[in-house]
Amino acid sequence: MGKTLFIKTYGCQMNVYDSARMADVLAPLGYRPVDGPEAADLVILNTCHIREKAAEKVYSELGRLRHMKSSRLRHGGEMIIAVAGCVAQAEGAEIQRRAPFVDIVFGPQTYHRLPEMVARAGGGRRVLDTGFPADPKFDFLPEEAAPQGVSAHLTVQEGCDKFCTFCVVPYTRGMEYSRPVADVLAEARRLVAAGAREITLLGQNVNAYHGAAPAGGGEWGLGRLIRALAEINGLERIRYTTSHPGDMDDDLISAHGEVKQLMPFLHLPIQSGSDKVLAAMNRRYVADDYRRTVDELRRVRPDIALASDIIVGFPGETDADFKETLRLARDVGFAQAYAFKFSPRPGTPAALMEQQVPDPVKAERLETLRRVLDAAQFAFNRASVGRVMEVLFDRHGKRPGQIAGRSPYMQAVHVEVPRACADDAPPAGAAVNGEAGAERLFGSVVPVRVREAHANSLTGALHDAAEREGILGGAGRLQRALA
Ligand code: 5AD
Ligand code: SF4
Repeated sequence: MGKTLFIKTYGCQMNVYDSARMADVLAPLGYRPVDGPEAADLVILNTCHIREKAAEKVYSELGRLRHMKSSRLRHGGEMIIAVAGCVAQAEGAEIQRRAPFVDIVFGPQTYHRLPEMVARAGGGRRVLDTGFPADPKFDFLPEEAAPQGVSAHLTVQEGCDKFCTFCVVPYTRGMEYSRPVADVLAEARRLVAAGAREITLLGQNVNAYHGAAPAGGGEWGLGRLIRALAEINGLERIRYTTSHPGDMDDDLISAHGEVKQLMPFLHLPIQSGSDKVLAAMNRRYVADDYRRTVDELRRVRPDIALASDIIVGFPGETDADFKETLRLARDVGFAQAYAFKFSPRPGTPAALMEQQVPDPVKAERLETLRRVLDAAQFAFNRASVGRVMEVLFDRHGKRPGQIAGRSPYMQAVHVEVPRACADDAPPAGAAVNGEAGAERLFGSVVPVRVREAHANSLTGALHDAAEREGILGGAGRLQRALA
């Protein structure tokens, strides 16, 4: 008993979720999380293989851990080092060769077996577990979970069978798998009981969800699952990420117009605006299909904000192809978008394609695209100024006296803590900056008047009505009054 655990997470939200579940699996063994590797008996790097840069970071972190481990051994102690996640899955043997001091290597589908791996490792024994077990790990994960707070993540789908030619996910995460509806609803209810007000449904290809229906008989798609989740009392916001444009079916699109808890923000990666490149990527849609889907979404939910992922410099991408991408990005006007230089990943078809684009060309295109995307994001944020938006507060802001949360459109919103909070807040001896009192707003959806827009965030003030209604004493009451 009394052992310590540090997990460092790279990459996507799915990894963040997995890391939390690893901690849940290890808790019954007496492992308690600590803030850094220095004090940890067990260090897990939960890795990402999506682009080369992400994978290389792992090896440099391992270099630092090696020194820590040897000094620990010299002083008669021990440190177990584990590498998890998609790099582990893709290059398990390579990790063992390049970093022989690593004790455990395991993939995204086997972490429910961690207790056994930890028991077997140590004292120079090494464990490699990167299989794809026939029974999904979800059946073995404990129900008890550390609370995730106001904004929680819930994996409903994993893996992918789309085989986009640039992507490692089908190889590292395995075939598409959807958790049964009943399991998802039960986990959602537990999260809400533990304080979650917002749940983000996760999946590599989440809108391909097709989970077994609760009472047997057929499968539910994501739209139907969302409608069922919206029935849970106390769950105020639902989001999902990340989606494939080809899986935006009619039911899911109409849910955006009908389910008020479903937030008007959608991350829908386009990857390229050129039909030729989209075909070479095996994306199975053309740019006009994407435009039509966006039009449909905006018809049912006019204020919906779109986010995206875009790759520049895919093999064979010409200037004309790239211009198509710029045109599409300008036309859609993304509220937020990630842009990446194509990174050839070993084992994927695109890595072997001819006509690889030289790095300086990729770099130039990335910069051009970034300018277009940044301008659109700033324009979107500027359009929020003067509006009253519902913000779900969940944390302290960067500056003292500020709290922060998210708008329905995923914008980070910072608000100065009002005087009233400061006055009735502090317990004896605490600093009088109002933050402690404002914490009672965490978990509440509160109207905020947006005052200023920045590149990546907004600042605002609690809306007058909120203050008049005495929101600081009864945010829930105000919410009900507004509903
Ligand atoms: N090179 C560059 N970007 C990639 N992505 C996935 N694979 C690659 C790659 N090989 C991007 C895609 C995806 C996001 C998660 O990462 O845009 O949507
Ligand atoms: Fe990768 Fe997404 Fe394509 Fe699946 S749909 S192969 S996860 S990019």
